[in-house]
Amino acid sequence: MASLTVRQLDEALKARLRLRAARHGRSMEDEIRGILRNAAEQDEPAPPPAAAKRGGAREGSRRASPAPDRTPAEDAAAAHKHILLVIGGGIAAYKSLDLIRRLRERDMAVRVVMTDAAQRFITPLSVGALAGEHPHVDLFDAKSEFDVGHIRLARDPDLVVIAPATADLMAKMACGLADDLASAVLLATDKKILLAPAMNPKMWANKATQRNLAQLVRDGVALVGPNAGEMAESGEVGVGRMAEPLDIARAAATLLSQSSDALKGLRVIVTSGPTHEPIDPVRYIANRSSGKQGHAIAEAAAAAGAVVTLISGPVTVADPPGVRVVKVERARDMLRAAEAALPADVAIFAAAVADWRSATNSREKIKKSGKEAPALALVENPDILATIARRKSGRPQLVIGFAAETEHVVENAKAKLARKGCDWILANDVSPETGIMGGDSNTIHLVTRSGVEHWPPQSKGGVAAALIERIAAAIKGRQ
Ligand SMILES: Cc1cc2nc3c(=O)[nH]c(=O)nc-3n(C[C@H](O)[C@H](O)[C@H](O)COP(=O)(O)O)c2cc1C
Repeated sequence: MASLTVRQLDEALKARLRLRAARHGRSMEDEIRGILRNAAEQDEPAPPPAAAKRGGAREGSRRASPAPDRTPAEDAAAAHKHILLVIGGGIAAYKSLDLIRRLRERDMAVRVVMTDAAQRFITPLSVGALAGEHPHVDLFDAKSEFDVGHIRLARDPDLVVIAPATADLMAKMACGLADDLASAVLLATDKKILLAPAMNPKMWANKATQRNLAQLVRDGVALVGPNAGEMAESGEVGVGRMAEPLDIARAAATLLSQSSDALKGLRVIVTSGPTHEPIDPVRYIANRSSGKQGHAIAEAAAAAGAVVTLISGPVTVADPPGVRVVKVERARDMLRAAEAALPADVAIFAAAVADWRSATNSREKIKKSGKEAPALALVENPDILATIARRKSGRPQLVIGFAAETEHVVENAKAKLARKGCDWILANDVSPETGIMGGDSNTIHLVTRSGVEHWPPQSKGGVAAALIERIAAAIKGRQ
C-alpha cells in the first residue's frame, strides 16, 4: 500500500487540519489518526446494549468521543448550590451568557459580578435576564453597601467561578489587590474559586501571567482550560481560548460534589513522586516527576473523608494535610509500603516508578579510573501496579494507574490497562512541550475497560477533584 504523509495533502486541507488539531491540543498526526480511528470504528457493528450499559453512560461509549456534559451524581450534588460568577473584560465574555444558562440548567443559583471592562463586551441587561437577577457592578453601590454588600457576595456562594478570567484579574488576585467590586469580592472570599482563563496566546504565555497562575494554583485556586484553538478576535491560533461553557459547568459541578463525605469510610492508597534507584552512595537513577499530581489526589481523597496512606518518593512538595505519609526512595520500598498499607478499597498509583535499577549498588563512590567509563548494567524493577492489580486476595475494589506517554497516548494506555489488569488508567502526554512533568496543570484521558473520556486541560487539583468524584460514583455503583 502506498504511504500517505501530511506533506502530500493540499494546502487548504492542511490549514483546516492544523486548526482542528490546535483546537483539540493535538499534533496534526494525532488528529489524523483520531479521524481515521473514528471513521473505522463507525463501520464496526455497535456493541451489545447490555455491555454499553454496564459501565454507565460515560464508560459505555466505545468511541473516543467527548464525555456527555453531566452525570446524575454530579447533578444531584450541584443542584441548589449557589454560584458567584465573576465576568471579566475579555472577548470570551459572550460565552459567559451561555455559561449562566448551563449552570442554571443544573438547578444552580447564579449571582453575577461584572467588571467595568466586562460591561464593554456584554450588557448587564442580558446577564440579568439570564441570571434572573441584576448583576452587581459597583463596589460603592449605595444600595448594597449599607450592609457591606461585597462581603455578603463573598460569603454567600458555595463556589466562585471566574469566566472569562482576564490576565488583569489573575494578576490582581495573585497580588491581593481590591480596587473594584470583582477583586474586592475575590480577596474577601474563603470559598473555592474556579478560574476559566481566556486571553491572547501571547498574554497567556507571558512570564508574568504564568507567574501569577503558579501563585494562584499554590493558593488552591482550581483551573479549567484554557484550550488550544483559534482566537475569536484575530484568527490567531494557540493556547488561550476559554474552556467551553459545558466544560466549565461540569468542572463547577465536580468541585461542588466533592463533599466531605464522598469517600467516607473508605481506605485509599496513593503513590506519588519519582523513585530514586541508587548506583553508589551519591548517584542515582531518577525521573522528572514532581509528585504534584499524586499529592493533590491524596489531599482530595482525604478532604472527601477517606483514610489515606500516601506513599511518596523523594519530592519537594509539602505533605498534604490529614494524610498518613510513608516516605520511600526505591521502587522495591514503594511496593513493600503499598503491600503493607493493604487492605484498601482504592489504590491509585500516580508515582513515576523507575522501570529499571542499577544491577549493583556500590558501597563506595565509583571513581574515575582514567581508563574506560564503567558500564551501567540495569535490572528490571518490580511492577507495583500489576502486582497489586493481580493479587488473588486482598485486591482493592478499584486499582487505578497512570500512563505518562510521549506518543500514541490513548493506544498505549489501553494496552497498559490490559497488560496490568487494573481498572482505570489516567493517561497523559508528558512530552516536554506540554509542561505537564513538574507543571501545575494536566490533560487527562481516562481509559476504562469500556471506553475513553477526554477531560479538558485543568489544574492538577482539578484533575484530583474530578477523579475523586468519579471514584465515589463508581464505588457507589458497585455497592
Ligand atoms: C477587544 C478587546 C479584547 C480583549 N480581550 C481580552 C481577553 O480575552 N483576555 C484578557 O485578559 N484581556 C482582554 N482584553 C483586555 C482587557 O479588557 C483589559 O485588560 C481590562 O483592563 C480587563 O479588565 P478586568 O480584568 O477588570 O475585566 C481585551 C481588550 C479589548 C479592547
